[in-house]
Amino acid sequence: MYFYGTTGVNKNGNLEIGGVDAIELTQSFGTPLYVYDVALMRERAQGFKRAFEEQNIKAQVAYASKAFSTIAMIQLAEEEGLSLDVVSGGELYTAVAAGFPVERIHFHGNNKSRDELEMALDNRIGCIVVDNFFELELLNTICLEKKASVNILLRVTPGIEAHTHDYILTGQEDSKFGFDLQNGQAEEALKMALHFEYLEVLGLHCHIGSQIFETTGFLLAAQKIVEKMDVWKKKLSFEAKVLNLGGGFGIRYTKEDEPRPPSQYVSEIIREVKILTEQFSLEMPEIWIEPGRSLVGDAGITLYQVGSSKEVPGVRKYLAVDGGMSDNIRPALYQAKYEAVLANKPLDKPNETVSIAGKCCESGDMLIWDLPLPEAGEKDILAVFCTGAYGYSMSNNYNRIPRPAVVFVENGKAALVVKRESYEDLIRYDIPLK
Ligand code: LLP
Repeated sequence: MYFYGTTGVNKNGNLEIGGVDAIELTQSFGTPLYVYDVALMRERAQGFKRAFEEQNIKAQVAYASKAFSTIAMIQLAEEEGLSLDVVSGGELYTAVAAGFPVERIHFHGNNKSRDELEMALDNRIGCIVVDNFFELELLNTICLEKKASVNILLRVTPGIEAHTHDYILTGQEDSKFGFDLQNGQAEEALKMALHFEYLEVLGLHCHIGSQIFETTGFLLAAQKIVEKMDVWKKKLSFEAKVLNLGGGFGIRYTKEDEPRPPSQYVSEIIREVKILTEQFSLEMPEIWIEPGRSLVGDAGITLYQVGSSKEVPGVRKYLAVDGGMSDNIRPALYQAKYEAVLANKPLDKPNETVSIAGKCCESGDMLIWDLPLPEAGEKDILAVFCTGAYGYSMSNNYNRIPRPAVVFVENGKAALVVKRESYEDLIRYDIPLK
């Protein structure tokens, strides 16, 4: 068992997060409950930013808000001086509603609609990451209609795909995202964009994957892109001011995971880009990154009430909680693994192995397989660690289960930042036949 951030055990013997007793949180706000350790999110943000500042590198650290987009979270990102990556009209709307500085918003997505692009232009956001030819033409048309200029990055696929420990090089990347760097599409897009009067091409973007532990994939991607920057400087007199290497920095979900600290990803990226640009006599571009998971993932803990259990003799014991794939679909979707303890007795020695089931009508609704735990029953609260990224943001109402509330804790205080959905909320958009 390990604790991190401000998580620990208090004098009542209960799990404590941000100086607040987890059991008291469940009494005040109910279960399931998403709890975020705000100090840890601040620390993670500062870790990335500091790594650039220490080396005097112009940079933007854009929080990939798809990991967890709510008004409070976006305001926290603002407080920490982050930029923001949004991927839909809804995420953009949330950012604007949160009062996030528009000039630090970057808009992603492989199928932005006319409405979404207009919304981005009307809000004068910092940059649009153009993904494909359709979007390039559409954006140009809208800019001409509105006589509005906009900064863009071109999203390229460098032919590198990274998954956790591995990265693979693919000749021609089979991806729905971006302009292919190898087959000439990226160059064609750049030529077009440079001719469009209202589009200012700031530079290039790539994102090679998610939950990546090794730095190699990022360095290879940088290498592929900087090589092209050299070609395009000579051929098209284009000099990229920005190199955005995306997100994907891994976190520790279980003891099997061994991510690097943020500073290591950043310092190795800086080092590589410096070497490459010097080698090609290019100006050092600004480096932008887009961490999502690594800013919020391990700051999130979900608290569940334990309910029924079922023993299959000689096979396993199922222990059910009052949530499941409706608040955390990652185990069902990706076979994601998590660690958990009983929040009311986190230091008790496990004396059995149980598998944590959700309450949804689906056999695949399992949160954790084979978890060592002290004997648990209906008085117990299960705390599942590292649920801060893609938990709430991928939550759903399967089986008409209301979404849980979200609480931020810091310095002994808890603040409700998303209300629990009610049954009335669930039928709000239903239109009766009679
Ligand atoms: N930038 C771009 C362009 C992305 O597509 C993503 C994630 C990120 C940044 C942030 O990546 P992160 O630092 O969070 O790994 N639902 C999946 C993750 C999907 C990630 C999609 N793109 C999960 O729960 O693991």
